[in-house]
Amino acid sequence: MTDLNALPAEFTWGVATAAYQIEGAVAEDGRSPSIWDTFSHTPGKVDGGDTGDVACDHYHRTAEDIGLIRQVGADAYRFSIAWPRVVPGGDGPVNKAGLDFYDRLVDGLLEAGITPFATLYHWDLPQVLQDRGGWTVRETSEHFAAYASHVVERLGDRVKDWATLNEPLCSAWIGHLEGRMAPGLTDLTAAVRASYHLHLGHGLAVRAIRAASSDARVGIVNNLSPIEPATTSEADLAAARRADGHINRWWLDPVLGRGYPQDMVELYGVELPVRAGDLETIAAPLDWLGLNYYFRQFVSDDPSGPAPAFTQVPAAGGRHTHMDWEVHADGLEHLLLRLTEEYGVERVYVTENGSAYRDTVAADGSVHDPERVRYLEEHLAACARAVAKGAPLAGYFAWSLLDNFEWAYGYDKRFGLVHVDYATQRRTVKSSGRRYAELIGEHANRR
Ligand code: NOJ
Repeated sequence: MTDLNALPAEFTWGVATAAYQIEGAVAEDGRSPSIWDTFSHTPGKVDGGDTGDVACDHYHRTAEDIGLIRQVGADAYRFSIAWPRVVPGGDGPVNKAGLDFYDRLVDGLLEAGITPFATLYHWDLPQVLQDRGGWTVRETSEHFAAYASHVVERLGDRVKDWATLNEPLCSAWIGHLEGRMAPGLTDLTAAVRASYHLHLGHGLAVRAIRAASSDARVGIVNNLSPIEPATTSEADLAAARRADGHINRWWLDPVLGRGYPQDMVELYGVELPVRAGDLETIAAPLDWLGLNYYFRQFVSDDPSGPAPAFTQVPAAGGRHTHMDWEVHADGLEHLLLRLTEEYGVERVYVTENGSAYRDTVAADGSVHDPERVRYLEEHLAACARAVAKGAPLAGYFAWSLLDNFEWAYGYDKRFGLVHVDYATQRRTVKSSGRRYAELIGEHANRR
């Protein structure tokens, strides 16, 4: 029995996906290539040489997938809009056929009684903009706001909840510093500049969204991790403080009006290209904050490593998912309370939380995933505990509706509540999908 009593009556129960991970149809209806098309087609970048060319073929199976959202019990769907479908040139003219696809999706969701939560940027920058400097240049922030306003002008009568960016940490740090995601750079200066222009793009987009839709509710989605020092040595404690700056504070402080953390600015030693008014733009008031939670991180000092000079060390013991991520539901409660107590956030959604396991289809056609069921129950219980202690949590989105293209890990890592057989595109609701529907039903009955 999972005690979800503390969750508010008006709780949003969702599932989440992202455009490049599920849509496929990369060359249809005028879509231009994104940095992820380029990256995934570069040999050696993605496990198994996988690409998003076909993915879950969601572009052609929207109606079926909307049916699956209902089957797993969700009443909200967080999806992302592909910039290269809507403005294939990066800036300039709108591609009507690209927007038509999302128009149909939104209508289908509403007809099925599902509330749309749209994310404007889930990592698929038009490649043409990357060729002009990508997020390392200011123009990209301005183009992002222009694209956002086109989308909201078209969909804002029906979509009320908008996220600007998904996990900008990954775009900046993993894409520009660690090189494990598109555009695949390993350059601290580029990474810091990218983080700044992502934030600026966020702030400009908030303004554009509100100008296009007066009753829009706007948020940003950050992935955060509780940080633990690997040992109690002074050096590891200091490393943990730096890691917290790099992973959490850098992404929260500027958008929540605190400016950039000074210790990190000094540590990176990269001048931020701030112009008058930018910090206010970046700190534009938000209606909600999105939290993506997957794991905590243990860190140790790494004086020989590049700034921020820490390394992640594996968690000793415990359960791990197929990603090798430690299962630690308490971390979710901890982060929700930190957002409340330290940052004074007034409305939060868990915009992603989920787990990859080696799921297989049994002889009888079913997919039994007890580990994911347990993961889901434990994390929902953590949400309920956080709410009981005062966290203003308004909803939870399971990652993910479908197994999908897990970025540099390709299709091998399955996060879905619904299994996808990529050879046939057959979908099968897993035990976890059924359990999610059951938990949602129980919660509804107590209202
Ligand atoms: C967060 C990202 O937003 C999503 O795209 C990804 O698939 C999940 N994490 C799992 O790694």
